[in-house]
Amino acid sequence: MPEFPIIAPSILACDFSRLAEEVQAVSSAGWIHVDVMDGHFVPNLSFGADIVAATRRSTDKILDVHLMIENPEKWVQNYIDAGADCVIFHVEATNDPVALADSLRERGVRAGISVKPGTPIEDYLGDLEHFDLVLVMSVEPGFGGQSFMPDQVEKVATLRREIDARGLNTIIEIDGGISAKTIEQAAAAGCDAFVAGSAVYKADNPDAEVVRLHELASAALPR
Ligand code: DX5
Ligand code: ZN
Repeated sequence: MPEFPIIAPSILACDFSRLAEEVQAVSSAGWIHVDVMDGHFVPNLSFGADIVAATRRSTDKILDVHLMIENPEKWVQNYIDAGADCVIFHVEATNDPVALADSLRERGVRAGISVKPGTPIEDYLGDLEHFDLVLVMSVEPGFGGQSFMPDQVEKVATLRREIDARGLNTIIEIDGGISAKTIEQAAAAGCDAFVAGSAVYKADNPDAEVVRLHELASAALPR
């Protein structure tokens, strides 16, 4: 199977009382997305490194850890120790995204940045070679179950053009409100990876929903 598209179910929407089963239920998923919220960077609190470690014990899949936290420099090592494969921090939470990304790579994990809907992507295009992944938020970070913001697709298209023009292999991921109704627009703009929380875990059959999202994205990808 080709590496892309990647469907990354967000465990934020799962039943935490059955975490391991819920993670294992989405066997068709490429990655597992883990949303860490500190109640400061975003107005909601989810969980921390112990739950990332519990998720790690539940699956061999790539753990895509999305840190919606202040002072990410101070905390990233805890998430690496917990078993994160890709550590994504918000550019709005740090003064030096390039230095933090470089230090993540030196520590042996993939380095990702995330941008809130109001943050222009243009400021980061010149530094793309430092980032293994860019996560475009298509909702305001903080809560699952919000409506997709279609205007964020333009950021995906901008990133796709820049990454292709420079021959980079930075992965473009989108997060927020992704469902069977919205995934094709992001895929058509050249997105590689798709986070889906409610669409997957509120479905009657979460794994069947992953397969459906994968099919829709595959058919809509530009290449
Ligand atoms: C939002 C999180 C998302 C969220 C996605 O702050 O980063 O990953 O869980 O949930 P849905 O797919 O329900 O929008
Ligand atoms: Zn997320």
